[in-house]
Amino acid sequence: MAADDARAIARAFAPQRPWGHRGNYYYALFKLRSDPLYPGVLTALRGSNAPLLDMGCGLGLLAHALRRDGQLMPYRGVDNDGSKIQCGRIAAERTALADTGFERIDLLATVPEHHGSVALLDVLQYLPAAAQTALLQRVAGMLGAHGRLVIRMAEPDHSRRGVISRVTDRAANLIGWMRSRPRDYLDVTTVRTQLQQAGLSVSVSPLYGSTPFNNWLLVAQRD
Ligand SMILES: C[S@@+](CC[C@H](N)C(=O)[O-])C[C@H]1O[C@@H](n2cnc3c(N)ncnc32)[C@H](O)[C@@H]1O
Repeated sequence: MAADDARAIARAFAPQRPWGHRGNYYYALFKLRSDPLYPGVLTALRGSNAPLLDMGCGLGLLAHALRRDGQLMPYRGVDNDGSKIQCGRIAAERTALADTGFERIDLLATVPEHHGSVALLDVLQYLPAAAQTALLQRVAGMLGAHGRLVIRMAEPDHSRRGVISRVTDRAANLIGWMRSRPRDYLDVTTVRTQLQQAGLSVSVSPLYGSTPFNNWLLVAQRD
């Protein structure tokens, strides 16, 4: 993402007092500038006005990226980390993001009702394999004629990138940045096949840019 856009979004996560904790600000700045995730997802969603459910939304950076891109569909972010949801809510209020909501929800306990588009970005691996399969089935049923499903996931192969992806997920949990620990990694082919069996057409492309990870983007919709 362009440096100016990244800085403007990150500012929403800066502390209100000069001595406050700047962790979320620097995280947002670094993530938005270095990770091709958001440009990839913005491209995938552009042209659809369907309401978006962002499952495992973290701080809700996607909501800010969408609005800066002129994408105004209703946005609802859910995550089981209450502190991230709280930060996401505050940042959205500070920047007056319209039609945006955040809720603390554990996807292992509750899958929200929804009809429209769905984002599952770097989150599937925090659920056990059986729960991932069940969730994908539910999500496939949420897409109407105009909804899109956007998934980013790591391909868990034995390449250097695959190993770095898994080790980084584990480390993020161990240092406390990610409260959830990674559980299971489905491979891209398995996920694509499951979505196709649910009647969706699926495109798959690499989405790691200059990062060391093995991240792939899947975009699915009803034929
Ligand atoms: C790597 S972060 C990705 C955040 C966001 N999707 C993004 O791409 O910026 C994974 C997120 O999934 C959330 N998560 C993990 N397990 C979850 C669960 N069972 N229910 C809801 N959210 C969960 C974590 O709290 C974390 O915010």
